[in-house]
Amino acid sequence: MSNPADIARAVELLLAGELVGIPTETVYGLGADAANPQAVAKIFAAKGRPADHPLIVHIPGANYLERWAVDIPDLAYELAEDFWPGPLTLILKRAPGVPDAVTGGQDTVGLRVPGHLVALDLLRAFAAAGGSGGIAAPSANRFGRISPTTAAHVREELGDAVALVLDGGACVVGIESTIVDLSSGQPVLLRPGHITPAAIESVCGELPTLPTAAAPRASGTLEAHYAPTTPMRRVEGARLAQFLNALRHSGRRCGVLAHSQPPLAVSGPNPAHVWKMLPAEPVGYAHDLYAALRDLDHAGVDLIVVEAIPETPPWQAVADRLRRALAGAGGA
Ligand code: TXA
Ligand code: MG
Repeated sequence: MSNPADIARAVELLLAGELVGIPTETVYGLGADAANPQAVAKIFAAKGRPADHPLIVHIPGANYLERWAVDIPDLAYELAEDFWPGPLTLILKRAPGVPDAVTGGQDTVGLRVPGHLVALDLLRAFAAAGGSGGIAAPSANRFGRISPTTAAHVREELGDAVALVLDGGACVVGIESTIVDLSSGQPVLLRPGHITPAAIESVCGELPTLPTAAAPRASGTLEAHYAPTTPMRRVEGARLAQFLNALRHSGRRCGVLAHSQPPLAVSGPNPAHVWKMLPAEPVGYAHDLYAALRDLDHAGVDLIVVEAIPETPPWQAVADRLRRALAGAGGA
């Protein structure tokens, strides 16, 4: 875990325009001073991310909203009150002076207060040291790849491109924040996450709508994303045993991401298959998902087989990430 000396070093690096790996409750971020365009440019270079993709600015508290946004609706403060610090990103009209590098040239900015003590310590220390009070941080993975949920994953993804990775342990939530766009007067759900539409409705009095074609771009909304390099395929639980059995004689080894099917006996389809059993409920499944995909991607298997998950609202965020991983890894 990080200690005060690590935080002090991280603040020095941010003030000097360098990159720092940051633990949050969702996934690890690759952070830079959000007010420094040269520092932000290093994020795009390290990730291999297209420059027109906007970044989320992490702030120490809702009292920093006015530093980065204008025309802030009451609803933003109400959502902040209920969900910050926590896994919710709000899209608001940008304040003058927010670098184009952060917003991808759009007239809006994404803001969130992360629910992780190390991230909050860093944000507060950075502000107290005269920094801008904002750390721009996308997920600390190479563009299009699996988001990191441990400090070791960040090292594996980015190596020497990041000067320091603060270690805050494994991320508690495990998938990226829910993104709600409030810039158009009515809440629009840009990315599902741990904070559900129903939870947002409990504050707004209305369910967030889904984006129209004209909605701002979010890289998390590209079809292919969060993807392993191993091909992936989705199989209904009821057909899983039969599917693996059919591969028996092909000599192909599978990595199986299961949640309801217990591993088949070693005498079953292929003892060389690698099984990952995830919890059969969406919060636990989300927590383990990326680490499991990463492990299976490194297991030297020919195919990752995902047992289909339930098509019910509580599984929405997990379904979204799996769908994109399948698209990115050439699966269906
Ligand atoms: O949980 C998270 O949100 C993590 C942690 C590190 O905070 N961050 C994260 O960042 O997932 P990233 O860059 O991987 O995804 C941020 C998403 C992208 O899809 C980006 O396009 C969208 O937020 N975004 C940021 N600013 C936006 C804006 N002004 N309008 C629309 N989408 C925006
Ligand atoms: Mg990302």
